[in-house]
Amino acid sequence: MTTPHIRNRYTDLIHQTFFFPRHGFEINDNKLFFQGIDLNELAKEYGTPLKFTYLPKIGSQIEKIKKLFNDAIKKYDYKGNYNYCYCTKSSHFEFILNEVLKYDADLETSSAFDLTIVKKLHSEGRFDKSKFIVCNGYKTQQYVKNISELVTAGFENIICVLDNREEFDLVDKYATKTTKIGIRIATEEEPNFLIYTSRMGMSYKHVLDLYKNKIHDNPKFKLKMVHFFVNSGIRDTTYFWSELTRLVNVYCDLKEECPELDTLDIGGGMPIYTSLGVEFDYAYMIDQIVFYTKTICENRGVKMPDIFTEFGSFTVGESGGILYTVIGEKEQNDKEKWYMIDSSFITTLPDTWGIGQKFILLAANHWDKEFQRINLGGLTCDSQDFYNSDTNSNQVFMPKNTASDPLLIGFFHTGAYQESLGGYGGIQHCLIPAPKHLIIDKDENGEFSYKVFAEEQKSDGMLKILGY
Ligand SMILES: Cc1ncc(COP(=O)(O)O)c(C=O)c1O
Repeated sequence: MTTPHIRNRYTDLIHQTFFFPRHGFEINDNKLFFQGIDLNELAKEYGTPLKFTYLPKIGSQIEKIKKLFNDAIKKYDYKGNYNYCYCTKSSHFEFILNEVLKYDADLETSSAFDLTIVKKLHSEGRFDKSKFIVCNGYKTQQYVKNISELVTAGFENIICVLDNREEFDLVDKYATKTTKIGIRIATEEEPNFLIYTSRMGMSYKHVLDLYKNKIHDNPKFKLKMVHFFVNSGIRDTTYFWSELTRLVNVYCDLKEECPELDTLDIGGGMPIYTSLGVEFDYAYMIDQIVFYTKTICENRGVKMPDIFTEFGSFTVGESGGILYTVIGEKEQNDKEKWYMIDSSFITTLPDTWGIGQKFILLAANHWDKEFQRINLGGLTCDSQDFYNSDTNSNQVFMPKNTASDPLLIGFFHTGAYQESLGGYGGIQHCLIPAPKHLIIDKDENGEFSYKVFAEEQKSDGMLKILGY
């Protein structure tokens, strides 16, 4: 007689909770593979904590969205083009920009120093003067000077998006050649948000005035773009669709006055998979964006605009991951068991600490072991340096640990914003070092290549910053 199989192994939990395997995750001999990469081998070879970037994901994301927009444009006979801009602030690293530009994306910038990256890329022949640069963000004098310098140098498609009415005077002061500008319209926040109207952009009530009084008769400027960004992202909600349609109508109001206007930038916010338990219908969302824009423009008798997006998380988020080893266990009471990781959440995944962001979290080994509810603790002495709830459940389960073969865990789709927020290569909480960072690529034959971008941070560098 066979004993009935008790389904309390980690593998049972994952297979029962999610459709698995999916999104490039699979299990082989109770070991986790990501995009075909054996994570246990990776940890053995390079050690942990280990950040990694899987470059091919960047190109596939860009191509996916371009295709979906172009399909919808064809389906609805939409009379305008689509442009994919990459929002550089989500990851400024050279290896990311390099990959993004291979897929012919344009750029969206947020501050003065972003434009020094553009200059550098151009000087190395990697960024053509005809490419689009959408300059968002609050304009400091230095930012405006850098924009003007690029316009003067012949970057013909740099668009300075005005965040507020006063900014126009600053831009006017430094502009030497005809400058393309955009206007950012403030979106209304979701009803449950602490603020009614976004701090970014200007109220639509001021837009026509600004155009008529300052831009219309000024030969130095061409108003080309209306920009908005719905903060909570592109979601299939009544709120998103009502903001989209309201703002397409604002575009039409302005287009009736300004024939040069030809572009609508709908910002960033395309969601990514931060959990195995959700599903996004990207094709449907994009189909509807194109459909609504066309229908409103047709009804208003206005020529359809070119549509721009500025996806940050979507471009780089799913390319990143981080592996930690569980280096100790603590049991503080009957119910709370802690697995201590060999780094810190506050320093390496600051979004988990700052805004309660969840990421895909999976054990990389011991899938055949029993699971238990645990809390994950970081190395800093900050009481908030922990991770103990997933998107789907307010708890985290992991296989039982063994001292002889410690548990390896991975957080995935962490490629956007974490270094920009946590700082990179500087001083961090409790002097926990920045982890080693590995870049992984794959050639046409499916062969992986690995390059260490940065070794784990050393104490020498930190002491120098601290003045020792
Ligand atoms: C103006 C603007 N565009 C694009 C983005 C990118 O957003 P996401 O990373 O959600 O795509 C941001 C992010 O804050 C933004 O402020």
